[in-house]
Amino acid sequence: MQRFENYLKSHLLRVSSFHPCYEEALSAMLDAGGKRFRPQLLLEVVEAHNSLLYNSALPVALALEAFHTYSLIHDDLPAMDNASLRRGHETLHVKYDEATAILAGDALNTEAFLLIAKAPLRDDVRIKLVEILADNGGSGGMVLGQAIDCYFENQKLELKQIEILHQNKTAKLIAASLQMGAVIAGLSKEVERALYDFGLDLGLLFQVQDDIIDATQSEQEAGKTTNNDESKNSFVTVLGLDTSLEYANNLAKKIEDKLESFDKNTKQALSKAVAHYLWRHK
Ligand code: IPE
Ligand code: IPE
Ligand code: MG
Ligand code: MG
Ligand code: MG
Repeated sequence: MQRFENYLKSHLLRVSSFHPCYEEALSAMLDAGGKRFRPQLLLEVVEAHNSLLYNSALPVALALEAFHTYSLIHDDLPAMDNASLRRGHETLHVKYDEATAILAGDALNTEAFLLIAKAPLRDDVRIKLVEILADNGGSGGMVLGQAIDCYFENQKLELKQIEILHQNKTAKLIAASLQMGAVIAGLSKEVERALYDFGLDLGLLFQVQDDIIDATQSEQEAGKTTNNDESKNSFVTVLGLDTSLEYANNLAKKIEDKLESFDKNTKQALSKAVAHYLWRHK
């Protein structure tokens, strides 16, 4: 992922104006790090199937990271999770002010679509990528998940509803990352669909683990505000820690089994990207 990191560092948003901190705020959270999981998923799929397109895929991988970073900046706002630490740094509304944080998020959201529009890929591919990101990140995806997450604070949901919440909030963007890799690499509709479905399970596991992190890690360990989910419908809040660990183990097993159904290249690429998430709890 060093190539992606270098690409990101050399493509941070540059907007000069007489505003004293606007330009810095646009890039601060993108530059601060993070696991880069979504770009990695996209790039692994492209590399495994059509490595000549790797460089052309970099702006699309950056688009995913910009979009995801926008969602985190807004997620941390006082109106949502009211968190003060993110990626080891003060959140933007703490460091600057709320308006600056909201606007930096807005800008990164828009920037994601600009990056895809300008990527050196075929027109039909770019349109498909815009469609997938909008579909999974927008009103019927991440935004819906966040809306349910925030609206139902302090109201316990059923397990089925919690799964829908987290599928939308987190899993769809992760599934979209794999699908977008498949579209760039020119894979069949069938493989595209299989990767997307695999991503939904992977994304749900990712969120269960994120909920476990909230309950079990200090903010130093996590690099973000933790112990922040008490009023939420997190897996841990609703199921308890032990049942959540069991839930995660079962999902990890399902994902491992699904890995076997992919061709050798895809399997290798996915194994590399997800190895870290397939841990089993004792
Ligand atoms: C955090 O995402 C929010 C969730 C969707 C669980 P990540 O855990 O990918 O955060 P970064 O990108 O590593 O900071
Ligand atoms: C946020 O989920 C998911 C997003 C769509 C941003 P969380 O609220 O659990 O993410 P963290 O724990 O703050 O990273
Ligand atoms: Mg949240
Ligand atoms: Mg949060
Ligand atoms: Mg969380």
